[in-house]
Amino acid sequence: MDLFLQEGSRVWLKEDGVNQPCTISSVSGGVVIFTTDYGEVYTYKLKTLSRQRVCVMSQESRDGVEDMASLQELHDGAILHTLHLRYTQHLIYTYIGSILVAVNPCVCVSGVYDEAAVELYSAGGRGQLPPHIYALSNQTYRALWQRHDNQCVLISGESGSGKTESTKLILRFLSAMSQRSQPTSSHVENAILESR
Ligand SMILES: Nc1ncnc2c1ncn2[C@@H]1O[C@H](COP(=O)(O)OP(=O)(O)O)[C@@H](O)[C@H]1O
Ligand SMILES: [Mg+2]
Repeated sequence: MDLFLQEGSRVWLKEDGVNQPCTISSVSGGVVIFTTDYGEVYTYKLKTLSRQRVCVMSQESRDGVEDMASLQELHDGAILHTLHLRYTQHLIYTYIGSILVAVNPCVCVSGVYDEAAVELYSAGGRGQLPPHIYALSNQTYRALWQRHDNQCVLISGESGSGKTESTKLILRFLSAMSQRSQPTSSHVENAILESR
């Protein structure tokens, strides 16, 4: 069978139509044992495995990427795996092309939204800095000035996924930017930011 089925290899194992990120725990006596990143163990006879069932994991998926458009694998498993991998490194934002995906950390991650972050993302263009809601906010703010037209940010997700928090973060960034250009116009912005 294929060379990649070696102990320690990182592979995708298709179980019930879902691609699971796995490490091969052992290959011996014609039997392969897979352990998924989520703790499940699957045992198969080597001769029953096909390329449709098992494929080697790309380097991008192994390392994690800032933009999932650059993943070689086009399946839900790779997207969930990338988000999970980054989440374990306290990186809650990831792009898919022009879309920003946010994973709710459910705890305050220090330093992510402070003044220094506003400063950093107000200066950098998209692609120059790690994915962040302030990068998207800055893109929106710039578009307002460049196009002289209303801008819309579409935020979707399940209940409790962080839509309201994300909205407030965008408003916080826009408020900070507008206060820079008009220091006295904070009354309305503060009212918006304090709303829930
Ligand atoms: N970026 C974030 N950082 C820290 N906690 C967050 C973040 N986004 C959401 N949360 C937490 O999750 C809770 C639910 O988020 P919320 O924005 O109210 O969800 P939604 O509006 O999608 O129902 C918040 O009260 C907050 O505790
Ligand atoms: Mg809400």
